[in-house]
Amino acid sequence: MRISDCGFNEILNKALVTGDLSREEIVFLLSLEDEADVKRLLETADAVRQACVGDDVYIRGLIEFSNMCARNCSYCGIRADNPDVHRYRMPIDEIIETAEHVVSKGIGTIVLQSGEDPWFTADRMREIIRGIKARADCAITLSIGERTYDEYKAMKEAGADRFLLRHETAVRSLYEKLHPDCSFDERQRCLNDLKSLGYQVGAGCMVGLPWQTVEDMAEDIVFVRDLNADMVGIGPFIPHPGTPLGDHPAGTLAQTLKMVALARIATRNGLLPATTAVGSIDPFGREKALKAGANVVMPNYTPLKYRVDYEIYPDKKCINEDPEQCHGCMQARILSTGRTIGTGPGHSLKHLR
Ligand code: 5AD
Ligand code: FES
Repeated sequence: MRISDCGFNEILNKALVTGDLSREEIVFLLSLEDEADVKRLLETADAVRQACVGDDVYIRGLIEFSNMCARNCSYCGIRADNPDVHRYRMPIDEIIETAEHVVSKGIGTIVLQSGEDPWFTADRMREIIRGIKARADCAITLSIGERTYDEYKAMKEAGADRFLLRHETAVRSLYEKLHPDCSFDERQRCLNDLKSLGYQVGAGCMVGLPWQTVEDMAEDIVFVRDLNADMVGIGPFIPHPGTPLGDHPAGTLAQTLKMVALARIATRNGLLPATTAVGSIDPFGREKALKAGANVVMPNYTPLKYRVDYEIYPDKKCINEDPEQCHGCMQARILSTGRTIGTGPGHSLKHLR
């Protein structure tokens, strides 16, 4: 698409003021190559972030409590068919104690993440959610994959506040290629159920997936805007040698930052993490994402003895640092970008409904 300089200014102005960009305009921005042009896009996203959510960066404490997974996503290192993974499940008491410890450090949200592990039934999840809520004043985010409406409902009633379920890609044919044993419609059903149950919902996608085009990425931006997602997690695809996609190239930092910027422009006041994946492909990837629209970080509080086995992609950031180290490091990284640290639970700003 040819767009004149004057057209570029107009598009950036629209991005700044309303974010109401057409697919064509999103594709145009995602295709920018010139360094000065890209810089203007990222700065526009930073300005939208400043105006819509301010300078606070929220810290979420991530606990990866089980790496058992029934699914076979073709990019993911902990997929069921990878025999080289040493599998673990944290005992329920230890999950609750770990969460209590994280909250004692001043962190207002616990993110409970796992593979799709049927052992953690809705009843067991309720026990964990209630146990944490009884001991600690915090919000709870679940990231445990696809469940039935009734299971989501039971966990919401037990006190879960938010749910992360990345849509992975908004393009049906690409989704089906990457998840031969799963259904695109079922994923959408889950996201809709979570919304209707009153969860603050996090969608999100990977950037630079095999076969993914710029047009496909524009669909992801339109998708999170239409869903009115409260949170949007965006990270580069990183090939894992133990998976069918192990030989494909990784997504780039440049393309990931453009996607974070467009997610900010499109969602306005969304909660956007500077993901571990973007920190894993560049030593300052998270800081760069914070300057391109992100306003959340999720340091890893999984006890070290388990953490090494939660390898969804290789060279994952912070795999060997102990949680205390990550805590200080993350705060220093936020402050280095000139931002402030958010206090309290950091609920969705869209959720004041
Ligand atoms: N590279 C990057 N991100 C990945 N995820 C899973 N595997 C990979 C990989 N190889 C992401 C998925 C998932 C989230 C928890 O991690 O988007 O939803
Ligand atoms: Fe873990 Fe920096 S956030 S060591």
